Amino acid sequence: MVAATADIEAFVAGRRRRWLVTGAAGFIGSHLVETLLRLDQEVVGLDNFATGHRSNLDDVRTRVGDAAWRRFHFIEGDITRLETCRQACDGAAIVLHQAALGSVPRSLEDPIATHNANVTGFLHMLVAARDAGCGRFVYAASSSTYGDHPGLPKVEETIGRPLSPYAATKFFDEIYAEVFGRCYGMPTIGLRYFNVYGARQDPNGPYAAVIPRWAAAMLGNEPCRINGDGETSRDFCYVADAVQANLRAGLVENPDAVGQVYNVAVGARTSLTQLHALLAEALRERRPELAEVPPEYAPFRAGDVRHSEADIGKAQRLLGYRPRFVVRTGLRDAATWYTKIARQ
Ligand SMILES: NC(=O)c1ccc[n+]([C@@H]2O[C@H](COP(=O)([O-])OP(=O)(O)OC[C@H]3O[C@@H](n4cnc5c(N)ncnc54)[C@H](O)[C@@H]3O)[C@@H](O)[C@H]2O)c1
Repeated sequence: MVAATADIEAFVAGRRRRWLVTGAAGFIGSHLVETLLRLDQEVVGLDNFATGHRSNLDDVRTRVGDAAWRRFHFIEGDITRLETCRQACDGAAIVLHQAALGSVPRSLEDPIATHNANVTGFLHMLVAARDAGCGRFVYAASSSTYGDHPGLPKVEETIGRPLSPYAATKFFDEIYAEVFGRCYGMPTIGLRYFNVYGARQDPNGPYAAVIPRWAAAMLGNEPCRINGDGETSRDFCYVADAVQANLRAGLVENPDAVGQVYNVAVGARTSLTQLHALLAEALRERRPELAEVPPEYAPFRAGDVRHSEADIGKAQRLLGYRPRFVVRTGLRDAATWYTKIARQ
């Protein structure tokens, strides 16, 4: 059993297990793959490259080295095909299900595509993991499930109504996971990520997340666009802490901790105006010559919640989760990557 205070990485490395990471070529998935391979684990990755990139897997390979890479088996496939999910789940002790179509605006434009990947695909993964007898099913839930509930900080048990098709799909996932726990005794854990950021998060395209998009703009000496008045706030979570939460959720044995959803964040709020200043500071440490370009302001975006801040007490108590990064230190760490890809 992994104690709440244990060094989770040492615990993982203590025994080789087979993990399945869906969405392996994506941002968070590729970090899970990288960490697990470093910790001497066997990893199966599944992805259809809808939004993920082969270059993310190439980067992981370079970083972990060829010996570790031999413990990785990649399946190119789609979770909307049940057979593919069955193939991927075969022999996996722990599933870390990340594959989904992210982005609120994308879901407003194409709710069916978002539903297919995030709900139909999710259900296939649940069925496949159940039938394969996987010992744990950890899945990427979302802070968007808090919807229109105004309470701050967000506590797992109190949610509002979803504000977008994306939020609806992530809420459906929680319902299905709970039902599979109740009906089939499946050990599931949902991780409600708050805005996660770090290396390999896609800076391109209309649905890019704010931090990589702004980093690319700043490094090109272009203005960043702030949607709204700049006072909109988020609980920005560094990807290493999201990885930590997955490892802990994958191995926690306390029965009270299973069948639950958890906030995964720092437990603090940063406004967009503050974020802009912190990101500029982190990038300027590496590129002092960067110009100070003031941000441009645009209208509020449909479907966005105004403020978001997590209460992380439940994850601390039941999973032993302890975030190791605040926004300033996370951005400083990620700045290496932002500046590297800007040069390419
Ligand atoms: N990044 C965040 O801030 C954040 C916040 C809340 C929740 N999440 C959730 O975390 C998970 C990972 O997000 P991310 O930021 O790494 O996004 P990402 O787009 O980088 O990764 C998602 C991966 O899933 C793959 N995928 C999509 N549809 C698929 C399908 N039908 N079959 C197989 N693979 C498919 C994509 O190709 C991609 O590689 C998602 O479930 C997302 O909804 C992310």
